[in-house]
Amino acid sequence: MSTTKTKNGFTKHAFGVIDSKKNKISILKLQKMKKNGDLVAWVTAYDLPFAYVAEKAGVDMILVGDSGGMVQLGYQTTNPVTMDEMIILASSARRGAPNTFLIGDMPQGTYEVSKEDAVSNALRFVKESLCDAVKCEGGIRVINHIKAIIDAGMLVMGHLGLTPQSAVSFGGYRVQGKNVIGFEQILEDALALQDAGVFAILLEAMPPEPAQQIAQQLDIPIYGIGAGDKVDGQLVIMHDIMGFYQPFRPWFAKCYIPDVISGFSNYIESIGDLKIVGRENRSDGLLVLAEMAVIKYIEDVKNRVFPGKDYSYPIKDAELKELRKSKYWRE
Ligand code: KIV
Repeated sequence: MSTTKTKNGFTKHAFGVIDSKKNKISILKLQKMKKNGDLVAWVTAYDLPFAYVAEKAGVDMILVGDSGGMVQLGYQTTNPVTMDEMIILASSARRGAPNTFLIGDMPQGTYEVSKEDAVSNALRFVKESLCDAVKCEGGIRVINHIKAIIDAGMLVMGHLGLTPQSAVSFGGYRVQGKNVIGFEQILEDALALQDAGVFAILLEAMPPEPAQQIAQQLDIPIYGIGAGDKVDGQLVIMHDIMGFYQPFRPWFAKCYIPDVISGFSNYIESIGDLKIVGRENRSDGLLVLAEMAVIKYIEDVKNRVFPGKDYSYPIKDAELKELRKSKYWRE
C-alpha cells in the first residue's frame, strides 16, 4: 500500500496502486504457513471499497464469492448469478486490491457442463478481472472439469461441505460431515481434488472434528468457513463482518463492528480538526471503521480466538462416537 504525507502531516493512501514492495501471497507461502501452523485470514469482497479495506487491513487473500449475488446484487440465492456479473464484481474488487491474492468464484453453470466451458470461464476471471485463482464447488462429480482448468495453467481452489450452489440436493443449508457417509464422501472428494492438483480446499459448515480430520490428512491447505478452528485458516463474508446483510447471517459468522466501535470513537475524538482530515485524507468515516473491524478479525484468526466454540457448529457425543468408527478416522 503506497502512502504519501499531506501538507498537515496526515498519511494518505493511494487507491488501487500496484505496490512493488508488497508481495502477494503465493501457493508456496500458503503451503509453508500450513506446515508452520500459521493461520490464513481471508474475507470475501465484491467491489472496490471493501476490497480496498481488506487489502489495507492486511488480509492474506480475497474471495470474490458468488455470495456477492446475494449480499451485493440482491438475489435470494447464489444460483442466478451469471459469469458477466461475476466479472464486474471481480474487476471492481481487483481495482480496490491490486496487491492481494484474488480468487474468482465460478458461478453455477459455468464449469459443470463441459471442460471447454470450465476453462474458458476460468480464463475470463484471470484475463478480464486479473484474478490469481478460481474456486469451484464440488469434488469427484466435477473433477475432470476442475482438472481441465488446472491443465490449462490456472490455480483452482476446491470447495466442499455445504456447497451453496447445490444446497437443494442437501435439502437446504444444512451442516455437513456429521455422519459417517457424509464425512467419508467429503474426505474422498478432498483426496480426489488434491490428486487433481487444486492448491487448497475450502470446507463450509462442518463441525470442527471432521474438518480437523480432513485438514490433518491432506497435504494441501484446508480452510474453513463455519468449519471450526482446527483447519488452516478462516474465511468470513465481508458483509457479515460489517453487519451489512440483513436477511440472513450464518450461525458461524461474526459482526466485528461492536468490537471496534469504541476504538473508532476514541480515534475520531483524537482528531483535532475533522474538517482538515476530511479534506486531506478522508480518514473520518466508514472506511476507517470497516478497516478496524477487518484488522480485529485478522488478529482473532491469527491468535486462534475466532471462530472458537461460539462460532463453530457443535457435534453431539453420540454423533462423534459414530464418526470415529469411520475407516478414515485417525485418532
Ligand atoms: O460465495 C461465497 O462467498 C462462498 C463462500 C460462502 C464460501 O463460496
